[in-house]
Amino acid sequence: MAVLITGGAGYIGSHTAIELLNAGKEIVIIDNFYNSCPVVLDRIKELTGKEFAFEKCDIRDKDALNEVFNKYSIDSVIHFAGLKAVGESCQKPLLYYENNIGGTVTLCQVMAAHGCKTMIFSSSATVYGQNNQSPLTEDMKIGSTTNPYGTTKYFIEQILTDVSKSDVEWSICLLRYFNPIGAHESGRIGEAPNGIPNNLMPYITQVAEGKREHLFVYGDDYMTPDGTGVRDYIHVVDLAKGHLKALEKSKTQKGVAIYNLGTGRGYSVLEVVAAFEKASGVKIPYVIAPRRPGDLATCYSDPSKAERELFWKAEKGIEEMCADAYRWQHNNPNGYED
Ligand code: UD1
Repeated sequence: MAVLITGGAGYIGSHTAIELLNAGKEIVIIDNFYNSCPVVLDRIKELTGKEFAFEKCDIRDKDALNEVFNKYSIDSVIHFAGLKAVGESCQKPLLYYENNIGGTVTLCQVMAAHGCKTMIFSSSATVYGQNNQSPLTEDMKIGSTTNPYGTTKYFIEQILTDVSKSDVEWSICLLRYFNPIGAHESGRIGEAPNGIPNNLMPYITQVAEGKREHLFVYGDDYMTPDGTGVRDYIHVVDLAKGHLKALEKSKTQKGVAIYNLGTGRGYSVLEVVAAFEKASGVKIPYVIAPRRPGDLATCYSDPSKAERELFWKAEKGIEEMCADAYRWQHNNPNGYED
């Protein structure tokens, strides 16, 4: 039986595909390449020495999804496919609702029709919204999201919870990611944003590579030790391993289970800059800019539930995250375009 990975050519999907293949799992990847490219698939093969199935497919296309389920014996799905840019989601909310929510509903319908009722869903710490204090725990009230992207994650969590209530055969795991950064230690796969990066680490690596003049630090007047925003950065390979643990767990329990995947430790923007400079030996010039709308001062996890129930714990520290992110950027200055 195979695990279907939707969005498996993307940043987190590709790292997860490698962990599954290395654990001896059979996988089928689908992706529409909206925000990724085919060369990633060659790199996954190169890094694992393993073959796997791939189908170009959009999760909104029910007929195409049905064909995938007819062709392969799929017993579980890790669902990454979705749009993820906060700014773009404010400009194109309907595209986000159609793609993320509509796509997930279609995927669930096709899964149910084929008797496949195990899903690991790629959620986000963004669902905790503005009204909770860190460290964030899974039992906190969610919602009050600050942008349509975050709202799609919140709504999908609600939809999947309703699906599981309607049919006790479903086993659904909602994984709330904190801030994934870093890259595979080989430097062969990593995060390759289109255009100007929205997120901190890809922006820093592009400054390090001379592609951008300096970093803009969005706000230095937050109620944090140095005034800059504090986040729970997690190495993407640790995050990928969390999916393998969630998959194992889902075989033994039904219903909905929710886990934070983070380190439990927050770093400020300036601490990340310092860690990056230490790991790479490259100076990162920065200027202080106004706060970015929708940003929180502090956001970090309590990851103890995942440790207790999934036997998973993030192992890689901030310097390793920075060193791996830099290696990826330095070896692939233009992402996968080289
Ligand atoms: C954002 C999204 C989150 C999403 C994540 C993807 C919200 C509110 N946030 O998280 O849902 O899952 O991206 O990784 O929906 N910063 C700078 N300069 C920059 C970029 C960022 O100073 O050029 C600062 C930010 O103000 C923040 C920190 O760096 O304090 C991290 O920002 P970022 O990497 O964009 O992640 P989040 O905003 O935490």
